[in-house]
Amino acid sequence: MKLLLLSLGLALVSSQAQEIVDPVTSNFDLSKISGDWYSIYLASDNKEKIEENGSMRFFVERIYVLEHSSLYFKLHTIVNGECSEVPFVCDSTGKDGECSSDYNGHIVAHILETDYVGYLIYHAENCNNEGKSQIMALYGREPDVSPSVKAKFLEYCRAHGIAQENILDLTKINRCLQARDNALV
Ligand SMILES: *[C@@H]1O[C@H](CO)[C@@H](O)[C@H](O)[C@H]1NC(C)=O
Repeated sequence: MKLLLLSLGLALVSSQAQEIVDPVTSNFDLSKISGDWYSIYLASDNKEKIEENGSMRFFVERIYVLEHSSLYFKLHTIVNGECSEVPFVCDSTGKDGECSSDYNGHIVAHILETDYVGYLIYHAENCNNEGKSQIMALYGREPDVSPSVKAKFLEYCRAHGIAQENILDLTKINRCLQARDNALV
């Protein structure tokens, strides 16, 4: 039993060691951001957009990389109390880590920082006839991330002029985990 625990412990240590990857802030390799993600934090300078029934209140399940570096986001949002799937395609603009979409007016999103295996932070600008707003999100490969990654995100929000009270902690609300493909019903 002791041996089993010891080898289990060693296996955990070595799998954690592999997870330490340097954060990237440029020259993004989009193929590495594909796969499962969880929405951890969501922020906006226009809080209405990310609050209940807001047009940018999405919870991510998975990112697929399409041809020509376009990204397909499998998202969920809550409509009349029910989680519903939102397909969202963001086309590469050709700039490093940047894509755009004509959803809800026009959206231009770019990755600020990621380590591919643990977290992803992006910034988006949404323009429509109501005006311009910023959206920022922290995605994690697991349902939660470390306090140091959260602190990083808060710092990026501060740098973009988004007030602390406009940052939502999605780990504390219904973010449609039960609607995911791998959900344990
Ligand atoms: C969101 O929409 C639902 C259904 O239309 C409504 O019952 C609920 O009060 C709305 N919530 C807010 C905060 O506006």
